[in-house]
Amino acid sequence: MLLHELLKVDGDVFLIEGSFEGLELNLRSLDYLDKLRSLPYGAVPAAVKVTDKTGEALGAAFQNRHPDGDFWFLVPYPHAPPARRQTELMVGDILGSGAVAKSKSRKVDGSRFRAALREYLSVSLVERALCDCTKEAEPMSFAANDERDRSIKKLLARVAKKYETDFGKVDALEICCGNGMSTRPLRGIFRSVLSVDNDKCAVCNGLYHGTLQPESTMVIDAMRLTQYGLGLFGCTAGFMLGTIYEFNKPIWRKIFEEALRATNGGGLLLFTVNQKEEMDFMQECYASMGIDGEVIDNRQKGSIYDSWAFVAVKDAGR
Ligand SMILES: C[S@@+](CC[C@H](N)C(=O)[O-])C[C@H]1O[C@@H](n2cnc3c(N)ncnc32)[C@H](O)[C@@H]1O
Repeated sequence: MLLHELLKVDGDVFLIEGSFEGLELNLRSLDYLDKLRSLPYGAVPAAVKVTDKTGEALGAAFQNRHPDGDFWFLVPYPHAPPARRQTELMVGDILGSGAVAKSKSRKVDGSRFRAALREYLSVSLVERALCDCTKEAEPMSFAANDERDRSIKKLLARVAKKYETDFGKVDALEICCGNGMSTRPLRGIFRSVLSVDNDKCAVCNGLYHGTLQPESTMVIDAMRLTQYGLGLFGCTAGFMLGTIYEFNKPIWRKIFEEALRATNGGGLLLFTVNQKEEMDFMQECYASMGIDGEVIDNRQKGSIYDSWAFVAVKDAGR
């Protein structure tokens, strides 16, 4: 596991939290840190403070004694300033209390650290360590479709040409990736693709079949994309967004807003939906945000996928 490689410690490394949402709330980790705070002098064998190459603190790991072999708990710092401050304060208290026998620092590449967290949670998900689910994996044919791959690639080529963009130089965010059927054709076209969805089971199936990759997949709510410190992307894409009904329009509006916020100035938004009414709604939402997008009639005989596409450029100044 990448986490273990990065920390270079003896023994397995675990996260206390079981999701990205959990890592932001950090409740179980704070509980653990609180316990460490009250341990006697030298009771924690070792700790590692993790920073990125610029010296920014990324988290801290603590060694735990166990008869079957010592192991480490890593506490990455949350992104929200109050939660981050509270966690850093507790880590500082522990390191200053004398409870830790040996402490050192490790500088790691920040983007590899984030990839390592994604890998850890993806592998844990697909190994069913994060749920009590006993469902069989869905068949591969549910997550991979060669004809659709070709059709998505064709759409991307058309957009790249018209918008004079070399996707090979673009890092993309794919929202609502589901089981990765729409992710597979993106890989190899973009420089990188980070895929997110809030449906654990769909993501689990995609990881199982390899349409989604552990290091570049996250189970998160697209309504809260910008809370996770993902950075900005040259293209934010989403395929077959929906189904959009009257009752869930506020949810989709929020997702569209967050997708825009996650995109670089000058970057592209590229979305598909199934129904024209869904596209009209999307276009209206973006128009109300000052984004004038192009709608492409992408209907194809015999295909139920990606019938309408929306493409827009986010103004460089936004
Ligand atoms: C019709 S599926 C499309 C899946 C995939 N993009 C494809 O084209 O094959 C729509 C996806 O949107 C996801 N979704 C809906 N609301 C979401 C939210 N708030 N956050 C993240 N994903 C969401 C669903 O879980 C589902 O996987």
